Amino acid sequence: MPAVYAPSPVTLLVVATLSLAACDDDYLLPTVDTEVVADRTDTILALSGTATDGAAVFTASCEQCHDAAGDQAKVGPALRPYMASAEDATIANLVLAGVPPSMPSFSTLLDQDVADLIAWLHDSFDP
Ligand code: HEC
Repeated sequence: MPAVYAPSPVTLLVVATLSLAACDDDYLLPTVDTEVVADRTDTILALSGTATDGAAVFTASCEQCHDAAGDQAKVGPALRPYMASAEDATIANLVLAGVPPSMPSFSTLLDQDVADLIAWLHDSFDP
């Protein structure tokens, strides 16, 4: 008859400690759910954005770190050069997921806000 595996108390303690450590990491460094970001990106690209509404989103969420004229580097880089070749899907992705290490995620923005923001970025910074 095969022996039945019964974990020793030490094994249980190690497993419990590792699980707790994993929870702790999740708490300190929330991981971006790439599937949710991908789904939301599809939804955002299907919406039509209004640039004039996007201006307010930029002022509230982006301007503290990115020059509103698009030309100067602030905390983050100038966005006019970036917009010359940026894909909308990449912008939506980056806004939802953030850019490690210094740009936070803006996943709390509504899909329509992100669509408006992208329209504004094109209007303002596209050559
Ligand atoms: C707290 C500061 C901060 C805020 C707020 C912020 N960003 Fe950023 N952003 C950065 C930094 C810093 C980088 C460069 C990557 C890094 O080091 O994290 C960056 C990178 C980018 C890039 C990539 C540029 C490139 O050349 O690769 C884009 C596009 C961008 N941000 C757009 C936005 C938009 C749109 C918003 C508003 C929703 C925003 N950012 C809000 C700091 C910020």
